[in-house]
Amino acid sequence: MRLATTILIVAAFAGMAGCGPGAGKDTPPLWILPDMKIQEKYKPQQESPLFPDRSASRRPVVGTVSRENYFADEGYHFGHSGGQYVGKNPVEINEITLRNGQKKFNVYCSPCHDRTASGGGIVGKRAGAVFQPANLHKQEIRDRNDGELYSIISDGRRIMSAYRNQISDYDRWTVIAYLRVLQRANGGKIDDVPENLRAGVR
Ligand code: HEC
Repeated sequence: MRLATTILIVAAFAGMAGCGPGAGKDTPPLWILPDMKIQEKYKPQQESPLFPDRSASRRPVVGTVSRENYFADEGYHFGHSGGQYVGKNPVEINEITLRNGQKKFNVYCSPCHDRTASGGGIVGKRAGAVFQPANLHKQEIRDRNDGELYSIISDGRRIMSAYRNQISDYDRWTVIAYLRVLQRANGGKIDDVPENLRAGVR
């Protein structure tokens, strides 16, 4: 008897869930537990009797500045400000920032530019002539200042796409710092290595 009652109740609920009264093609089904699907709120462009102009969307207070488009330090965010590239990396260069840059470079750049930055990553190998990542040891790229390199990875250049949204501002600056390390190491001579460490260098 108890079982029969349970089955009946379950069946009744199951029936209501999908097709309550008034549920047709254009009306939502009856929700037993609406959770947060139905809320007392206005959606954009809705009408409201609360305001004389009957619009629920209100204009921002005069003088409001959009947080999305305001950067206290434009140079830090864009790599250039007032039409000039930032000359020098604003992030302090130390072991923490370089290790961070190395990690991010290996994740985001090495698939194309390889871990030494010479441009021999797997993507270029598979893509063939149509998509060849640059060798970042080229003199013209070494000669670009930090802000320009930062701006290249933020906004992309020619066939390379932008990485602004994948890599934070701070991480992009540390990537540039680490790229400088790779460039320095690439052109390095044995005389650059402290004498006591030379034996370990191949
Ligand atoms: C999906 C592949 C890809 C990834 C990932 C990638 N690049 Fe590139 N990059 C390219 C290609 C391709 C070019 C050559 C663009 C051209 O010359 O048209 C290039 C060019 C460059 C240049 C030289 C632009 C110039 O001045 O001519 C720099 C600097 C550079 N990349 C840095 C980076 C850094 C740093 C990262 C990691 C944040 C990165 N790239 C990630 C494909 C990639």
